[in-house]
Amino acid sequence: MSDKVVLAYSGGLDTSVAIKWLKEKYNLDVIAVSIDVGNERDFSTIQQKALDVGAVKSLVKDAKELFVNHFVFPALRANAIYEGQYPLATALGRPLMAKLLVDVAREEEAKVVAHGCTGKGNDQVRFEVAFNALAPDLKIIAPAREWGMTREQTIEYAQRYSIPVPITVSSPYSIDECLWGRAIECGVLEDPWVEPPADAFAWTKSPINAPGEPAYVEIGFNKGIPVSIDGKKMGGISLIQQLNELAGEHGVGRIDHIEDRVVGIKSREIYEAPAALVLLQAHLALEALTLSRDQLRFKQRIAQEYADLVYNGLWFTGLRQDLNAYVSSSQRFVTGTVRLKLFKGSSMVVGRKAPASLYSYGLATYDKDDKFDASYAEGFMRLWGLSAKTQFQIQLAGEDKREEA
Ligand code: ARG
Repeated sequence: MSDKVVLAYSGGLDTSVAIKWLKEKYNLDVIAVSIDVGNERDFSTIQQKALDVGAVKSLVKDAKELFVNHFVFPALRANAIYEGQYPLATALGRPLMAKLLVDVAREEEAKVVAHGCTGKGNDQVRFEVAFNALAPDLKIIAPAREWGMTREQTIEYAQRYSIPVPITVSSPYSIDECLWGRAIECGVLEDPWVEPPADAFAWTKSPINAPGEPAYVEIGFNKGIPVSIDGKKMGGISLIQQLNELAGEHGVGRIDHIEDRVVGIKSREIYEAPAALVLLQAHLALEALTLSRDQLRFKQRIAQEYADLVYNGLWFTGLRQDLNAYVSSSQRFVTGTVRLKLFKGSSMVVGRKAPASLYSYGLATYDKDDKFDASYAEGFMRLWGLSAKTQFQIQLAGEDKREEA
């Protein structure tokens, strides 16, 4: 009897060819596992395809709920955005997939896991760091990294074994989707000077074709987690789906990023992430109302650490857990509602309110309700500026003259 390998199966060309290749090269029986993180596709067709190509078993795991609650929303609460641009869709999905693949390997008593990533990308890092952390005894095979076939050779290989070549192979782009966003790479996009053509986008309308009237949307948060749209309570999955539709319709969510990959390559990435951008913007607006200045400053640093470690494949680490604990604590009062205006590619926060808002009308107003005692101000400035005054008088005031001398 052959040993078994658990393969992360997308239904695409590479992972389909991998089913045959793993049998041929390593004499392994393939258990294909397809994981649904909201990349709305026909999973029963994919499941059948794996069997047709030669997998001994084919499983589909609906991981949308886990993805949203344990990966997406924690990243949203942290305001995790890689290099100030990328809301981390793909990067958040990989550790979850790795965990589910390891679970299947245990159930099936497989000794090997496999994924379809190439040797240039980040996804191999995320899969393999996670596999090694969770199950160091499992052997890892990365067929597409190992076989050294070009795209054409892979297609020939597929044809030789009557593996159906999906029509999407004719698409000039490489696409990866989940609820939190859509990544588009390759083709003309590899020239950073070339504007992404219209056909690169699928979730967002071009702002030119977006409706001529703005849309207003109110997002309700409970402790940093979005829970309602326009006052209507909603589960995380449908909330994200609905915002992807609405913001995408108004041309909101396009990102053009020169990105620094873990392996040291700069790459040009196009993203569509309507819900992610709108939710991150709304969440930041609510934090601006409910966190102190010092909390906000400190949390920016946490956000960057958090984004970097998710991007870099370090999800299953103590540091990620520790940062998460800080972030959770910081969200105790981040409850309230944010109102946004979506119009022809722009998304603007136009209102925010919170039961524990730190905004005090009595302190801020210049009207008759002013509660601020301005007599405190003079003494404050004397102390606040004491160091500046001392230094300027002793060192800086005479500096030009001294340099000339
Ligand atoms: N550059 C993004 C990331 O590293 C997206 C990668 C998309 N993955 C893919 N296999 N096409 O997270």
